[in-house]
Amino acid sequence: MLRLYICTLLALLWQAASVHSAALTHVSRQQCQTSGMHCPAGTIKVSASDKRADFTTVQAAIDSLPNDNSTQTILILAGTYKEQLNVTRAGPITLLGQTHASTDAAQNQVTITWAAANKDSTGQSVDNVFSSVLIVSPTLDASLTGSGTTGYAVPDDTPFGNKDFRAYNIDFTNTWAEYSDGPAHALSFSRANGGFYYCGFYSYQDTVYVGKLGNAYFYKSILAGQTDFLYGFGTAWIQSSDVLLRGCGGGVTAWKGTNTTFPNKYGVYIVDSSVRAANSSVAPSIKGACALGRPWNSQHRSIFARTFEDGSIEASGYIDWVVSGVARYENNVTLMAEYQVYGPGFNATGRVDGGVTTVLGKNGFEPYSEPRKVFQNADGVFGDVRWIDWETVGK
Ligand SMILES: *[C@@H]1O[C@H](CO)[C@@H](O)[C@H](O)[C@H]1NC(C)=O
Ligand SMILES: *[C@@H]1O[C@H](CO)[C@@H](O)[C@H](O)[C@H]1NC(C)=O
Ligand SMILES: *[C@@H]1O[C@H](CO)[C@@H](O)[C@H](O)[C@H]1NC(C)=O
Ligand SMILES: *[C@@H]1O[C@H](CO)[C@@H](O)[C@H](O)[C@H]1NC(C)=O
Ligand SMILES: *[C@@H]1O[C@H](CO)[C@@H](O)[C@H](O)[C@H]1NC(C)=O
Ligand SMILES: *[C@@H]1O[C@H](CO)[C@@H](O)[C@H](O)[C@H]1NC(C)=O
Repeated sequence: MLRLYICTLLALLWQAASVHSAALTHVSRQQCQTSGMHCPAGTIKVSASDKRADFTTVQAAIDSLPNDNSTQTILILAGTYKEQLNVTRAGPITLLGQTHASTDAAQNQVTITWAAANKDSTGQSVDNVFSSVLIVSPTLDASLTGSGTTGYAVPDDTPFGNKDFRAYNIDFTNTWAEYSDGPAHALSFSRANGGFYYCGFYSYQDTVYVGKLGNAYFYKSILAGQTDFLYGFGTAWIQSSDVLLRGCGGGVTAWKGTNTTFPNKYGVYIVDSSVRAANSSVAPSIKGACALGRPWNSQHRSIFARTFEDGSIEASGYIDWVVSGVARYENNVTLMAEYQVYGPGFNATGRVDGGVTTVLGKNGFEPYSEPRKVFQNADGVFGDVRWIDWETVGK
């Protein structure tokens, strides 16, 4: 009897989720994620097993969305979804992961997983984008990494993609190998604006790619990898997050700058975060061995600010990248920096001796000290950061 009552109640709650028309505030979002209540009207539900859901795969839900500017929300129920996701539409999209702990990425209950590196089934190498768990980009061309100092030349008439992509409490896991074995993207994000809140990104090499004209903001998220695992051409701001070292290789950051007709601040900014060994088993084997980053080209820009660094970090901080005898680090062009970092990973003598790490003072960091100062639109204009969920971020 009680059981029947609970089932009926749950079914009613479920229906309430479909008809409620409240705006997606911080509180209603959390209620939607934890109980299915107060979801925005028209929220599409995905579950591999729950018959009441609209779709069994996340990509089917994404494909069902109109190709217009409307705001759309997809609630993904707890579970593991083995699929690659590809978002091309321009209109705002929010992906919500069901969770019982909406402010803790370590307890996420939704995982999107895929196992691929940059090789096809015959072992031929293919562009890194094909390894991705989640791709956000308007076209295939816009998402290609390419090679050489400038990467793939995206055609001039390529439109901008998603204007406001948001994901909450979702893990994106590329399980290709348990060590670096070629690029294995958890995320590929180009020509789009997007925020990831309490999300997890896991692979070993080239885990998070923020490509050309990509503006990606990460909040209280977990980014775990081994080699060059934060890389790209665009702009990434990683706020109050855990950058976890699953081994060492290359550097944590490997950015490639682009010449533009306007001054740009493309780069990766890791702020108020923690960079440390992924766990206590791996910690002894990587002591003093992991580089903060290396220049994918001379215009690399990355800054670790107000961030904890554990004893895994190399004495020099960053390292140079020498290819065919040519060093990529260029004095006054390459910016591989730290600002007010702390913890055993910071060795002041080591930084000076290494000769490639810039330790910034207050004035040096000032031009990069807030998301609105670094995120730019396609024409180089700074300051439009309305696509960041400021209510959740609390600033
Ligand atoms: C979406 O909005 C942009 C302007 O922001 C407009 O140029 C475009 O035509 C709109 N797209 C659709 C499909 O309505
Ligand atoms: C993503 O979807 C678009 C549109 O269908 C397609 O053109 C593109 O090739 C897809 N990207 C990848 C990497 O498969
Ligand atoms: C950018 O311009 C500088 C100066 O002209 C040049 O040395 C560098 O190779 C260019 N970089 C790219 C990625 O095109
Ligand atoms: C610790 O991290 C390493 C690297 O990711 C992994 O191989 C290992 O399984 C982890 N150990 C534990 C106990 O979680
Ligand atoms: C670095 O570049 C700036 C402006 O381009 C210039 O004013 C400054 O003298 C340069 N510093 C060094 C050490 O070359
Ligand atoms: C700091 O770096 C220097 C090399 O520049 C090294 O000699 C020294 O042992 C390092 N200190 C620690 C505590 O690792």
